[in-house]
Amino acid sequence: MNKKYVAVLVVLMSLGLFASTLSAQEDSAYVEYRQALMKSLGTQMGSIGAILKNRLPMKENIASHASIIAIESELLPSGFEKETLAGKTEASPAVWQQWEQFKAAAMATGKESQKLADVAGSGSMGDIAGQMKNLGMTCGGCHKAFRKPKS
Ligand code: HEC
Repeated sequence: MNKKYVAVLVVLMSLGLFASTLSAQEDSAYVEYRQALMKSLGTQMGSIGAILKNRLPMKENIASHASIIAIESELLPSGFEKETLAGKTEASPAVWQQWEQFKAAAMATGKESQKLADVAGSGSMGDIAGQMKNLGMTCGGCHKAFRKPKS
């Protein structure tokens, strides 16, 4: 092989390697995004929980946290659109095998969080706690179907 061919080969190989690192990064970037979104859902739920548990006079904040959850649940499918189980992920392959059900589960969270935002405006603390439970069940429902149990 002459030098010119070797140089071309090296360039082609490095391009190939570069392309594969790029796509690996892309995969883990999607996982990073969807997990960050989930963490934020957890943070919103934790904030509402702290208000309820400690009986803080912050009904309006509950409505805002619930509205944030409603917005975030609309972002949820885009976080999972890319099928990847790359890196550290607890997502189950069922997410992509049952994509329509997965999206429906995200919509259920959206619907119940919207209801919580409404109840927080007008309802009693008891109503709010009840609706918080309904909302929490939609998180748990999706996790049961689409998140692998912790190993
Ligand atoms: C449509 C399905 C779905 C809904 C609805 C859903 N989750 Fe998740 N959640 C998942 C999946 C799948 C994972 C695993 C993601 C991964 O590891 O790639 C996850 C992971 C998480 C994690 C761990 C994130 C991390 O650090 O890795 C938290 C916290 C979480 N969810 C909280 C919530 C809360 C709170 C709600 C409700 C307000 C909720 N989720 C609603 C599917 C859902």
